[in-house]
Parts: sequence; C-alpha cells; structure tokens
Amino acid sequence: MKTDKINRRSFIKTASIGLTGFFVWLWYAMVGKQKQTAVKKRVVVALENQQKVFFNDDLVIIQGEQPLVLSARCPHLGCRINKLEGNNLICPCHGSSFDLKGEVLTGPAVRPLKALEYTLGSDGKQLIVDL
Ligand code: FES
Repeated sequence: MKTDKINRRSFIKTASIGLTGFFVWLWYAMVGKQKQTAVKKRVVVALENQQKVFFNDDLVIIQGEQPLVLSARCPHLGCRINKLEGNNLICPCHGSSFDLKGEVLTGPAVRPLKALEYTLGSDGKQLIVDL
C-alpha cells in the first residue's frame, strides 16, 4: 500500500517536470524565436541634402563611398549621442567621445558604438535600417 502511494507521487512529480519542460519548449518555439527575428522598428533615411555626418532618430550616419551606420545609443548608459565636435561624436550625458568609426576616444564608455546593418533603397538615395 505504501509503495503504491510513493509510486503515485513519483509519477505525478515526473509528469509535472515533463509537462513543465514541454510548455517551456512550446513557449520558446512560439514566442522566443519570434522575438529574436521580429523587426521592432524600420527607419528610412534620405541621404540627399545631408551633411557628411548626421543624426537621425537612434542612428548616426556617416556618408562616404560606403555609408556607415552606427547606433546613436551610447554604450555607457544608453544616452542618445547627438553632437559632433570636429570629427568626434560626443555623448551629452557623461562626455564619452567616439571617432567616426565608432571607436571610443575618451570614456567613461569602454565599448565602441554598435555598427548597424542597412540596405540602400533601389535608387541609392535612401538608407533602410531595421532596428
Ligand atoms: S551615457 Fe554616454 S557617456 Fe555616459
């Protein structure tokens, strides 16, 4: 009789663990992967009549033969970088500065600005970034 009770308990325990695992897997399969691939925001930027370096939304765009798009979010604490002094990008919050490749010149930031992938519009006059 006692053995039967233990078996029932261990069955319920094992089944609970198995069901929990199944639902975690199911949740990840349905929601987790979707979160990873979902485009949160698409930014389309006109390149014409812009300066060599300009800011748009959360982007820093450096025009050239091959444009470079950097995240304007400072890697220190996430302030939006919106200032250009000479060839240095300056964070308004704590003064970190970055060169036009996004590399740190002065801290407190220790990581470079994130380079973002983009596509050019069919006419080459627009830049499209999926954030
Ligand atoms: S958030 Fe940019 S330097 Fe602190």
